[in-house]
Amino acid sequence: MTVFWSFSSIDQEFTKTKPRELNSLLGEQEREYLNSLRIEKRRSEWLAGRLALKRLLQAVHAELAGRELSEIQILKLENGAPCLLIDNDLRLNESISLSHSNRHVFCAYADEKDLLGVDLELVEKRSLDFIQDFFTVDEIHQLNLCPPADHPFLANIIWSAKEAILKALSLGLTVDTRRINIQPGSSIISSPGWNSFGFTTDLIDKDLRLYWRRDDEFVLTICVTGHLPVRFVQL
Ligand SMILES: CC(C)(COP(=O)(O)OP(=O)(O)OC[C@H]1O[C@@H](n2cnc3c(N)ncnc32)[C@H](O)[C@@H]1OP(=O)(O)O)[C@@H](O)C(=O)NCCC(=O)NCCS
Repeated sequence: MTVFWSFSSIDQEFTKTKPRELNSLLGEQEREYLNSLRIEKRRSEWLAGRLALKRLLQAVHAELAGRELSEIQILKLENGAPCLLIDNDLRLNESISLSHSNRHVFCAYADEKDLLGVDLELVEKRSLDFIQDFFTVDEIHQLNLCPPADHPFLANIIWSAKEAILKALSLGLTVDTRRINIQPGSSIISSPGWNSFGFTTDLIDKDLRLYWRRDDEFVLTICVTGHLPVRFVQL
């Protein structure tokens, strides 16, 4: 399986776009949805996510290569998960996922019809209340063992991994995040590029795999299903 991914700032996505071009980059349903969004931050995140993922799909998806960006619509299912609409045909089996954080966007597409979830977090301090509400006893124990300087990184990688899994399962935050126990162990001290790490969950009995990488002050995580070896290609 190949996972194609891109990580960019919202400003980079908008720089590639002339304001007058916007109508030709969005499909009708996307324009309607954008018009319904009132908060500027949400509008720019939503739009940058669409532009980044559409550009990625146009570059690597065999069927979409010759398409205008406006013909590749990325809409939202009722549960919030992104879905592809091509020629009024809803492609529920396409593996796509996206995440935004602090004016950056991370998106991915997998060329196998497997589950895929991605998440992006800024490495910043997480409050004790947040950790107690969302982390398992084991995860809190791991945090207590690590040097204080590494806390923000470890806390955010654990949180990001949970969100990537919950997106891959299309659940979002509808379930207790403590039903996933992330076990980064010593793998968080690792080489650049994608690294795998462990976890347990009772949410699914399928094989799930979890990968992470660090990019300056951000942590990126990807969750995929399936047994095939994963190749990562950045766009
Ligand atoms: C899904 C969830 C984990 C998103 O995490 P987040 O850190 O808030 O936001 P991220 O930027 O990482 O991810 C957002 C993206 O996740 C995707 N997403 C949302 N719900 C999803 C789901 N159930 N399954 C898979 N992907 C989902 C969407 O593509 C969304 O981006 P978009 O709205 O621009 O299309 C979590 O917030 C959630 O469950 N949300 C449910 C919806 C909700 O509560 N909305 C409230 C206010 S907007």
